[in-house]
Amino acid sequence: MARNKLAMIGGGQIGQILALQAAQKELGDVVIYDIPQVEGPMKGKALDITQMAAAEEFDSRLSGTSSFEDIAGSDVVIVTAGLPRKPGMSRDDLLKTNVDIISKVANGVKQHAPNAFCIIITNPLDAMVYAFHKVSGFPKTQVCGMAGVLDTARWRAFIGMELDVSVEDIAGTVLGGHGPTMVPLPRLTTVGGVPLTEILSADRIEAIAKRTREAGTELVNLYGNGSAFFSPAGSAIQMAESYLKDKKRVLPCAALCEGEYGIDGLFIGVPCRIGAGGVEKIYEIALTDDEKALLSATVEAVKKTTSEVKL
Ligand code: APR
Repeated sequence: MARNKLAMIGGGQIGQILALQAAQKELGDVVIYDIPQVEGPMKGKALDITQMAAAEEFDSRLSGTSSFEDIAGSDVVIVTAGLPRKPGMSRDDLLKTNVDIISKVANGVKQHAPNAFCIIITNPLDAMVYAFHKVSGFPKTQVCGMAGVLDTARWRAFIGMELDVSVEDIAGTVLGGHGPTMVPLPRLTTVGGVPLTEILSADRIEAIAKRTREAGTELVNLYGNGSAFFSPAGSAIQMAESYLKDKKRVLPCAALCEGEYGIDGLFIGVPCRIGAGGVEKIYEIALTDDEKALLSATVEAVKKTTSEVKL
């Protein structure tokens, strides 16, 4: 059986961890694509990870390139190409520059890897997935954004820290746009099967929800010169793995809603089933009135950013 092939479009902070994790998990062979100015460092990263293989015992082959044709035949494409946030910048400040980059990337992927399952990470996330989908013309099942898995991982991490319990036993979901309007759902979060709302006060839950909404900014401020990279990479790898192994995991992803939750024509974070068919299904959760109000606010925010894409 031929190995799978994964293309990382953008081999910066996140791209390099994506390459490393894909190799460590033996998801397939990995191509790191970036602009010609950094082709040397991309080849270096690929070679460096290759030289880790003996110690870590993996057999993926890695390469670095600035030629788009080298991504040919990729099963999965993960896009981080673009500029990251600096302190004081919102995700939306990045919009125009990153729309141009994403448009180029979408054309390249369309030409060289038209069957790849595409996971977008570049911010502002919901708008970038929209742009990629629009330019590529790919079916909606083939394109999604990585945001909800990360937002949920942050939510789970903070709850685990608060309660001093294993993060593995915390289940929950975060809906909506990848920004300060995202909607963690305490009512549907459980700790070892016990509803979170029964074991933590409303005040503490709200404090954790607030920290979750601002988790990306907390890291931008700590790093001082870039944004989160370990956790976004790990989240996208989970999605890629579910696709490649047809695991059919239910993960919150930025998917194209066409009527679900009353949303039409927007990519936004909703629970999805990711399997060999890509985004195979979107689950609609019955929400309370308060949750509906929060969702409607995040939809408005995503609508506004998406309208600025102008494609
Ligand atoms: N094609 C391919 N790669 C590109 C292009 C392009 N047209 N333009 C820029 N890049 C590359 C850069 O050369 C760089 O190596 O994208 C990479 C981005 O890496 P970093 O600057 O290190 O950014 P990173 O932290 O990885 O974040 C990437 O993900 O979470 C989001 O907000 C974040 O939009 C940002 C993206």
